[in-house]
Amino acid sequence: MGTGHYLPEKIVTNFDIMKMMDTTDEFIVSRTGVHTRHHAEPDVSATDLALKACEAAVADAGLDMKDIDLIIMNTITPDHADPGSGFFLQGKLGLPGVAVFDIKEQCAGLIYGMAIADSFIKAGTHKHVLIACAEVLSKRIDGSYDGRNIAILLGDGAGAVVVGPTDDPAKGIIATSLGADGSGAKALYTAAPGTGLKRPDCINKDDIDAGRVHFRMDGKAVFENGVAKMSQAVLDAFEANDITFDDLDMLIPHQANLRMLEAIVEKVNAPTDKVFSNVDKLGNMASACLPVALDQARKTGKVNDGDLVLLVAFGSGFVWGSALMRM
Ligand SMILES: CC(C)(COP(=O)(O)OP(=O)(O)OC[C@H]1O[C@@H](n2cnc3c(N)ncnc32)[C@H](O)[C@@H]1OP(=O)(O)O)[C@@H](O)C(=O)NCCC(=O)NCCS
Repeated sequence: MGTGHYLPEKIVTNFDIMKMMDTTDEFIVSRTGVHTRHHAEPDVSATDLALKACEAAVADAGLDMKDIDLIIMNTITPDHADPGSGFFLQGKLGLPGVAVFDIKEQCAGLIYGMAIADSFIKAGTHKHVLIACAEVLSKRIDGSYDGRNIAILLGDGAGAVVVGPTDDPAKGIIATSLGADGSGAKALYTAAPGTGLKRPDCINKDDIDAGRVHFRMDGKAVFENGVAKMSQAVLDAFEANDITFDDLDMLIPHQANLRMLEAIVEKVNAPTDKVFSNVDKLGNMASACLPVALDQARKTGKVNDGDLVLLVAFGSGFVWGSALMRM
């Protein structure tokens, strides 16, 4: 029913990143295609960004905030360790009493959120579901040797969508498909704090010194699985819904990095004018990538009413999925 996004004002170039860690513009551009990304100010949290995206999405849907009866929030950069960020967002939205889901589906948060929203709306228990995906990844940058392979990719931002019932059977979410493979969970993860550290405590000073509080990524495993799973998600959605690129108006993939997008385009033989990309300017904003891209595609006329759009995502977990919809 509506989409919205918000990006913090501050733009950070690769040359700014070079001041934070031992890297080069040449390495970042050639390996990831990222030139710039946005960074939030120090006093800004994930739900501060989410709030602005949600307000834009609800206005775009032609609704009042009080029409929202379910909130689904996804982030890997929560406001606090617990409870879930959705609870902090609910307060900022002024929606006391409204049900909140915090989901932890990393870069596939929008697609999992849409599948949940679709089910609740079809079941008739809820009417207007607000899905928010927001990340302040800049606060998790680790420029050490072990962290710089992922640090160069990251950007901040938030996107939101409103899902609700429609009288037009041709419109809306046509199909969602969800997948996961927990055997890849440690290919991109943050070890601490955690009860899985097999110690009496969840976090201690050594975790900070040893970098266990930062993302650690096996870049090759993530790259290979991401390309394979997102490509297969496209092909599976085509087969299940009996469509081809002739029928599709826009493929919006998770903006992991440009090289991954290029590999997917090649694997599924996609016409490049039907593949949305903004990773060069915004970097990888984890779960915020998809709703920001969807909103930008709509607001710039790359996606219009009546268009057939396929979202695909892959993230740490591993998790992946697709959502096919008629705008
Ligand atoms: C991150 C990525 C660009 C690194 O490329 P790679 O070739 O796999 O890099 P490796 O980690 O094997 O490291 C190769 C070399 O580059 C270096 N390197 C890694 N990050 C670097 C950086 N930011 N700047 C400069 N050099 C870097 C490594 O130190 C290593 O050097 P060495 O061989 O002298 O030790 C690549 O793995 C990738 O794109 N992976 C997918 C990541 C992704 O999209 N994640 C998000 C998914 S949602």
